Amino acid sequence: MAGKEGSGMVVRYAGRLGVVASVALNLAALALYIRRRFFGGSGSGDGGGGREIATVEPSKGKPLVTPDSVVNLDHGDPTMYEAFWRETGDRATIVIPGCQTMSYFSDVGGFCWFLEPGFEREVRRLHRLVGNAVVDGYHVLVGTGSTQLFQAALYALSPATDGAPMSVVSPAPYYSSYPAVTNFLNSGLYRWAGDANTFDGDTCIELVCSPNNPDGGIRKAVIESKSGKAIHDFAYYWPQYTPITEAAGHDIMLFTVSKCTGHAGTRLGWALVKDREVAQKMIKFIELNTIGVSKDSQLRAAKILGAVCDGYETSLDGEASRLFHFARQQMMERWSKLRAAVAASDIFTLPNELSNYCTFVKETITTNPPFAWLRCEKEGVKDLEGFLREHKIITRGGTKFGVDGRFVRVSMLDTDEAFNVFMDRLASLK
Ligand SMILES: Cc1ncc(COP(=O)(O)O)c(C=O)c1O
Repeated sequence: MAGKEGSGMVVRYAGRLGVVASVALNLAALALYIRRRFFGGSGSGDGGGGREIATVEPSKGKPLVTPDSVVNLDHGDPTMYEAFWRETGDRATIVIPGCQTMSYFSDVGGFCWFLEPGFEREVRRLHRLVGNAVVDGYHVLVGTGSTQLFQAALYALSPATDGAPMSVVSPAPYYSSYPAVTNFLNSGLYRWAGDANTFDGDTCIELVCSPNNPDGGIRKAVIESKSGKAIHDFAYYWPQYTPITEAAGHDIMLFTVSKCTGHAGTRLGWALVKDREVAQKMIKFIELNTIGVSKDSQLRAAKILGAVCDGYETSLDGEASRLFHFARQQMMERWSKLRAAVAASDIFTLPNELSNYCTFVKETITTNPPFAWLRCEKEGVKDLEGFLREHKIITRGGTKFGVDGRFVRVSMLDTDEAFNVFMDRLASLK
């Protein structure tokens, strides 16, 4: 009996071994096929044909933060979303074989020759999902970050006459890059003219940033009636930062993957532009500036935006695959810690918390701005940036945003390590 059972086990075991061996062989054959098909190696093991696949490691980015190190919260570097993308695995991964994306052109004969149709499709799909912007009747343009599109829009809106440069304004506190980028090349077409609230010229381009960098305010154009020329910077009009209250439908609207999904390194932004002629001028600017926009980046961004939409439309993983829900939860936790720390301090204040009904999450929610706009009430501290630097916290001072030095802007989008060190240091300041 025992012997029979024993021999039966041997047969079953041998049978299983056979199945395992056959699966292993099939997998090895598949790996070989993929290697040959996509990477061109012969796969013979060594010598002439057997080439190793060279991998290129991405850079590590920023130095690690320790409890004693300087913590740099000057830039809005959105590394806090890494935790979400680490969990998505292949759903947001692309492989680009060496023979692809070689041409300059993406859509010869299309409205924008360097726009990847797949990227445009996902942009329109995402806006329809979130409901934050109208896409029907709009041209979609792509840029190397929304920073390039911002410059393209300035070029397109400035009259090409010999007259004085067009004034460019935004209400203070305004995003510190606006004056820097506007004046960088000393253009004869446009020039930074400061705070929109005190502008008294006849015509200008107004930059409307909403939610506003640096203070998180919800904004409308303040001098629309005078100029009629506005660029709406909607880098942060996404549900993790603010309630979505309407599908915006302005003439020029700028968005960026940097702050939407956290992929700042992909350097990709897009514009929704109503007027055909304005859109054509913006395309011309990008054509002369960089001869189009990286196709590799567009394909990656298309995959990522597609993964965000799939997370809501088709995924069975629930909350784990919903980027905006994940990101909003993270932001809420950070803001509640920051508000508690500021309330416990005698020397700092923050703008009041705002809330509104969000048509995307279908409930009333608070805003979670991407930056803390911190004010110091302590007697004698007129340079808060310098004061915090002495405590090894790097921030950006109010003067760069057109207001006084008692304010600083602090990024809320950095790693957990950096944010936690910031919280500990803030609590120790008296
Ligand atoms: C309001 C605003 N607009 C635009 C940008 C730039 O975005 P991109 O990375 O797409 O150039 C930033 C980046 O911090 C920003 O805060």
